Amino acid sequence: MMDEKLQAIRNEIEAGIENFDSSKALYEFRKVFLDNRDGKIAGLMKMLRDVPKEERPALGKGINQLKERAIDRFTAMDEKIHALELERKNASEKIDVTLPAAEIRTASLHPDTLIENELIDIFASMGFEIYEGREIENDYYNFTALNTPKDHPARDMQDTFYVSDEFLLRTQTSAGQIHVMEAKKPPIKILSPGKVFRSDDDATHSPMFTQMEGLVVDKGISVCDLQGMLDTFSQKIFGEGVKTRLRPSYFPFTEPSVEVDVSCFACGGKGCKLCKGTGWIEVLGAGIVNRHVLENCGIDPDVYSGFAFGMGVERIAMLKYGINNIKTLFESDTRFAAQFRD
Ligand code: PHE
Repeated sequence: MMDEKLQAIRNEIEAGIENFDSSKALYEFRKVFLDNRDGKIAGLMKMLRDVPKEERPALGKGINQLKERAIDRFTAMDEKIHALELERKNASEKIDVTLPAAEIRTASLHPDTLIENELIDIFASMGFEIYEGREIENDYYNFTALNTPKDHPARDMQDTFYVSDEFLLRTQTSAGQIHVMEAKKPPIKILSPGKVFRSDDDATHSPMFTQMEGLVVDKGISVCDLQGMLDTFSQKIFGEGVKTRLRPSYFPFTEPSVEVDVSCFACGGKGCKLCKGTGWIEVLGAGIVNRHVLENCGIDPDVYSGFAFGMGVERIAMLKYGINNIKTLFESDTRFAAQFRD
């Protein structure tokens, strides 16, 4: 009778033990047989009391064997299931080491700075010295000495921010020309980058923007020198094959004065959206230094002559990088700035 019970339990364990795939479920199944108090094997032990004395040792041995075998069987199965569980866990938490790492965000230079640096490199290679002027000027340096007296109509070209009756925010880096020529006699060859201010505000104009002024004064300087320098500059900044053309213009401090166009670097001069179908793009103003300006600085215009030019850095940046609203340059949005890298 008891033998049959032992056998039945053994069979029951064998029939069930393979059917689990979680260690928790296996543990519950194990308790059915091996729980010290309520387990079926503990139950057999209790029944032993009612068995005739002489049968007890053999039967007790049988029960112990059953218990040991059951423990071995469950332990082995538990190990197997644990290994499976680990495998499953590893598979679900697998890390793909070939995935690209999260991008490290580094700072980048502002497009203005990139263009400014590029221009400085180009002009420095042609022998220009850098002169940084002042942002607050008086009327004399910004206008009068530049042959633009008080009632001169050209003052209307540049709406001025006055800081006081005497002082103003410079409207043009040309003011620096006067400081340089007062301090230094020819030969002069300077490049002057800096902020300028005008009461002007639309998609291509900002009340504050950056100019780059150039001034060359020496004996025998002519429009040919200006033209030659402009060709070199244009090809370096916009690409080989870019041509320049001079159109007559007017500035009080240069005579003759010109607007300088470059052949469109986007379409090669055929006409496109960038050059508005004309094949040419205006990039700067220039001219031969007006003799009155030289005189104002104590330089003899019968001995010396010079050329000057001034360009808008934002304008060059917008052309080169295809930026269509100048405001984006001053909004400090890092997503915008990060698009421009050396
Ligand atoms: N100062 C002029 C401007 O701001 C540009 C310029 C500079 C023109 C030097 C001629 C010579 O428009």
